Amino acid sequence: MSHAEDHEGTRRDFLYYATAGAGAVATGAAVWPLVNQMNPSADVQALSSIRVDVSGVEVGTQISVKFLGKPVFIRRRTEEEISDARAVELSALIDQSAENPNKPGADASDENRSLDESGEWLVMMGVCTHLGCVPLGDGAGDFHGWFCPCHGSHYDTSGRIRKGPAPENLHIPVAEFVDENTIKLG
Ligand code: FES
Repeated sequence: MSHAEDHEGTRRDFLYYATAGAGAVATGAAVWPLVNQMNPSADVQALSSIRVDVSGVEVGTQISVKFLGKPVFIRRRTEEEISDARAVELSALIDQSAENPNKPGADASDENRSLDESGEWLVMMGVCTHLGCVPLGDGAGDFHGWFCPCHGSHYDTSGRIRKGPAPENLHIPVAEFVDENTIKLG
C-alpha cells in the first residue's frame, strides 16, 4: 500500500492516541488499563494494521498498545540505553537471530532491532518468549531493560534475552514510521 493510500483513512484504519500525559507513560502494566478502557471491538482487534501517535512519548519512557490482541511496547530510549544496547557483542547473546520482519536475515544487533537509525525508537511485542507473560519495563531486571517476573527472564535495553528461561529475544512486529509522529504497526 502506498503512503497516499495510507492517508486516505479507510474505514479499516484505527488510530490509538496514546498520550504521554497523566501517568499514561509508565510500565506496560500501568498503561494496560488505559488501553482496555478503549474497549476495541472484535472488529478492531482483527485489523491487520494500526497507527500509533507517538508525539507525546518522552525520551526514557514507553507506551503499550494493543495490536492483534497482544501488547506492543513502543519505547523512546535514552542515549544510555542505546549505547548500552549497542556495546553488547553478538557472542554474548543467547538468541543471536534478528526475528525482525522489517530486516529479514539480519542479526540481533541493536542496530537491526531498533526502528530508526539513531536507535531512539524500539518497538517490540510485549510478550515474554518463555510462556507469554507481559514483561515489566522501564529499566527492569539485571540488564536494565525488561524483566518477566513469571519465571525470571531478564531482557536488555534492546529487548534481547540475557538470563532466565526465555529462549528468544522479544519479537519485533512489522512497523514503520509513516510520518514523524506516527508509527504504523502491521
Ligand atoms: S513467561 Fe516469562 S519467564 Fe516464564
